[in-house]
Amino acid sequence: MTRGKFITFEGGEGSGKSTQARLLADRLKVRGIDAVLTREPGGSPFAERVRALLLDPATPSHSALSEALLFYAARADHLDKTIRPALAAGRWVICDRFSDSTRVYQGVAGGLSGDALGALERLVVAPTQPELTLFLDLAPGDGLARARARGATPGVALADTDPFERRDPQFHERLRAGYLAIAEAEPQRCVLIDGAGAPDTIAAEIWGHVERRLSQFHERLRAGYLAIAEAEPQRCVLIDGAGAPDTIAAEIWGHVERRLLQGVP
Ligand SMILES: Nc1ncnc2c1ncn2[C@@H]1O[C@H](COP(=O)(O)OP(=O)(O)O)[C@@H](O)[C@H]1O
Ligand SMILES: [Mg+2]
Repeated sequence: MTRGKFITFEGGEGSGKSTQARLLADRLKVRGIDAVLTREPGGSPFAERVRALLLDPATPSHSALSEALLFYAARADHLDKTIRPALAAGRWVICDRFSDSTRVYQGVAGGLSGDALGALERLVVAPTQPELTLFLDLAPGDGLARARARGATPGVALADTDPFERRDPQFHERLRAGYLAIAEAEPQRCVLIDGAGAPDTIAAEIWGHVERRLSQFHERLRAGYLAIAEAEPQRCVLIDGAGAPDTIAAEIWGHVERRLLQGVP
């Protein structure tokens, strides 16, 4: 069973993450690919409880460090209970927000050091990094206007929206700059998408990246294996995996006999 692919969506409030994550999961299902749509904070029963605490306007104020630790407590459980089992079963995981959100919200915009967040990321996430991260970029004012329209229920005050949506405009500008910096620093993993177009146009662009990047990803894996086999011929043997199982097994047995069973009674 090959491992499924892990794709994350990032971006500011109202940039279209949830909309596009759902469209991508639907499209994968049409293609016969079993995809799990999940979100952060949340995505497992424990992590959803932590989400409720984090997003509750009544939660007392706390430091960026306390907040980051809560996000990582939730993320550890989400990885163990939902993400890793799905990937191991060959299912694709589409996650609405992941580690980059912590890097920018509690790090770049919240003031927590990159070293502290890097340590948490290594402890909790590695080696389950996303293969592809789609950053939806939108001017914060436009995103917040969308988010407010989405949540708009007559009589519901702004005070009842989630605490992150209510931060000052500079905070949202810092978030955007933080996302752009990550996308620039990790071009292998990240793609920047203009979030201002129509939903279907954006979905088509994302689909193009998914098709292109993930096939390239597998080609890079193969090239990596070939390079190791070539560099360490004493230890490594390259086997053509295209034949029948018995033919391959016979070839493998020949190598085991020649290399390991010489002189063994
Ligand atoms: N490309 C788009 N153009 C206009 N409105 C959009 C677009 N994408 C999403 N929306 C709407 O904007 C609101 C916020 O989108 P959503 O996907 O929930 O954003 P996010 O999850 O990033 O906060 C929703 O009401 C959604 O229907
Ligand atoms: Mg959303």
